[in-house]
Amino acid sequence: MTGPTRNAKPHPQPVRREHWSGRLAFVLAATGSAVGLGNIWKFPYITGVNGGGWFVLIYLICVATVALPIMVAEIMLGRATQRSPVLAFRKLAGPRSPWQGIGWLGVAAAFVILSYYSVVAGWTLHYSWLALSQGFAGMQPAEVEALFGQVYADPGINLFWHGLFMLLTIAIVAAGVNAGVERWSRILMPLLFLMILALVLRAAGTDGFGPALDFVFGAHSDRLTPAGVLEALGHSFFTLSLGMGAMLTYGSYLRARDDVVTTSLAVGGLDTLISLMACMMIFPIIFVAGLTPAAGPGLVFVSLPIAFGQLPGGALWAAVFFVLLAVAALTSAISLLEVAVSHAIDWRGVSRRRAAIGIGAVIFVLGIPSALSGGTPLFGSDFAAATEALFGEGHGKNWFDLADYLASNWMLPLGGLGIAVFVAWRMGEHAREQAFRAGSRFARLYWGWVWLLRYIVPVGVVAVFLHALGII
Ligand code: PHE
Repeated sequence: MTGPTRNAKPHPQPVRREHWSGRLAFVLAATGSAVGLGNIWKFPYITGVNGGGWFVLIYLICVATVALPIMVAEIMLGRATQRSPVLAFRKLAGPRSPWQGIGWLGVAAAFVILSYYSVVAGWTLHYSWLALSQGFAGMQPAEVEALFGQVYADPGINLFWHGLFMLLTIAIVAAGVNAGVERWSRILMPLLFLMILALVLRAAGTDGFGPALDFVFGAHSDRLTPAGVLEALGHSFFTLSLGMGAMLTYGSYLRARDDVVTTSLAVGGLDTLISLMACMMIFPIIFVAGLTPAAGPGLVFVSLPIAFGQLPGGALWAAVFFVLLAVAALTSAISLLEVAVSHAIDWRGVSRRRAAIGIGAVIFVLGIPSALSGGTPLFGSDFAAATEALFGEGHGKNWFDLADYLASNWMLPLGGLGIAVFVAWRMGEHAREQAFRAGSRFARLYWGWVWLLRYIVPVGVVAVFLHALGII
């Protein structure tokens, strides 16, 4: 996306806005955005790599003190302005204000994130298909490992599922806020919750449950490093869909009387609950099979199919698991596409259908290099070699890794910082207080929230940046 040109003006007639049918619809949709690959794929593996225990505790503290205050600020900005990100800042800060840059950064982040997110989501579809059609039963661990390597490197498989996943996302977003996003969140979120519950209960019946509880909630700090602390903080942005306008956009479909604080607490609480449940469905199975929790990104695609393969009824449970992962990814992808689509509608008056199809197609194309990163040197090994100049020898990133790195380590924290600083320091006291207190049952939290936004959030985010630059 390019920034606004000097004469760029938003569409003169604001398009009539759809609204959620009620608070529950918003909570389901926003939780759908938050709960995704971040919770079920990434959180368990970073917990495993960082040794569980203390890492989980630190993550919870980051969510409560940094991420939740930003979430309240974001949703509040959307609700107060009834606009998508760029126009929200334009409305509050004026048509020439550089604060609009935060909105543009968010729209750009939607393109970057969805382009590679859809590739990983494609793997979940492929694995669902594999689990349903042939199961992983009878496969030797080495075979399962080789399978993931093959999938990662196969351009055809990656492109096909990436394309299919984008089509699903486009179809839902094109149908609209009520008939698309809300309707599917109402169907998919309870389904997701039931599947997780079933998998946790399944895991609770194994001998691995006790060790897993101890691993996740016990006082272990042996593997925790300063880098792990910053990873926890960075992840709290990604998992709660913060810093790129997704929550702002969903907030813009709230009505003025809908309470922002209660709903933020509900979304943050549900997201955290599901991350912890994801650990409790994955680690017991990993422990029973005698595998390591610290396997890294391959944890759910390699270790888990191996572990399921050793359980009675494992083929069925593996299928449930990968469908679950695909559903979680879909409700998050919807919110990513919605940011860009909502922006196109508000900014240029484009029809929703055209915006969803056009933008979705562009994101599909942008995702092609990510889909090919595992199998073609141009975007894989050669690309990684070329970026070594930037990241140091042996630390080069292929296209896919680069997109993830840019979005998670820079765009989201920068956007989150911008939102926090804007609300805490730039927005007028009166407007901010009114926006916070409107319809809120938690009005007394106001000063605590402002204080966190003013001091704690900036310190935390700057620490992430210094770390990304290798300074701390
Ligand atoms: N929160 C999603 C997840 O945990 C990812 C996401 C990030 C979605 C940013 C929207 C915006 O997978």
